[in-house]
Amino acid sequence: MALLEIRGVSKSFGGVAANVEISFEVEAGEILGLIGPNGAGKTSLFNAISGEVTPDAGEILLDGQRISGLGPVACAERGIARTFQVVRSFDSMTVLENVMVGAFARTARPPAAMRAAQETLEFCGLAARADRPAWSLSPPEKRRLEMARALATQPRIMLLDEMLTGLTPTEAQGGVELVRAVQRRGITVIMVEHVMEVVLPLVSRAVVLNLGRVLTIGLPSEIVRNPEVIRAYLGDRYAAD
Ligand SMILES: Nc1ncnc2c1ncn2[C@@H]1O[C@H](COP(=O)(O)OP(=O)(O)OP(=O)(O)O)[C@@H](O)[C@H]1O
Ligand SMILES: [Mg+2]
Repeated sequence: MALLEIRGVSKSFGGVAANVEISFEVEAGEILGLIGPNGAGKTSLFNAISGEVTPDAGEILLDGQRISGLGPVACAERGIARTFQVVRSFDSMTVLENVMVGAFARTARPPAAMRAAQETLEFCGLAARADRPAWSLSPPEKRRLEMARALATQPRIMLLDEMLTGLTPTEAQGGVELVRAVQRRGITVIMVEHVMEVVLPLVSRAVVLNLGRVLTIGLPSEIVRNPEVIRAYLGDRYAAD
């Protein structure tokens, strides 16, 4: 059985169909890419998987159990964590305290939450920043803090929404290594990313969304050769190869 199953998920906002009958499965342990043009419905689908939004139709199953419609707290308890496209740190709190917020999903005891947060900061390469206020971090460090807060909830599935966007190539490479380390921890990753040179080498498969619908699902090598994907998203520079 697939770890996560998206079954016919649709969601509209007024007249805008953000997601239309989206179906695919995610296998345990894989890094799955979720790609497509601006407005394709990638973040909306993350909102549905993480419980922030209830689909109008369809359902989302984790280990065969329905999680759609349960809300964000229940989805986090069941093992869904996410980062946000626009980083959401608690700016006046320290880096450590920000990550403790995630850790409190698993323990009510502050000393245990602090230990878990410290360990997570170490893993994310932010240990030296633990006592700084979150606002003082550089943009790539803020992306890592997002990752750390999400990891501290001890997820089974991590949803990464443009975690590498806006980073220099060197910073993005550091982010790629962190994603691989997350996978080695046994966490399944779904990542939204626009930089194809970064995302395609990292993922086992990619789901391409366009206008709210699944355009295709395939191996990276299939995606870059798919004429529909080139037309809708990748553009002509991929057509020549
Ligand atoms: N809460 C909302 N209210 C109204 N419209 C929304 C809402 N959330 C998403 N939409 C609309 O749904 C469509 C899909 O948006 P979404 O943010 O999911 O796209 P995306 O693929 O993440 O795009 P991007 O690459 O620009 O982040 C867009 O037309 C967007 O304006
Ligand atoms: Mg988005």
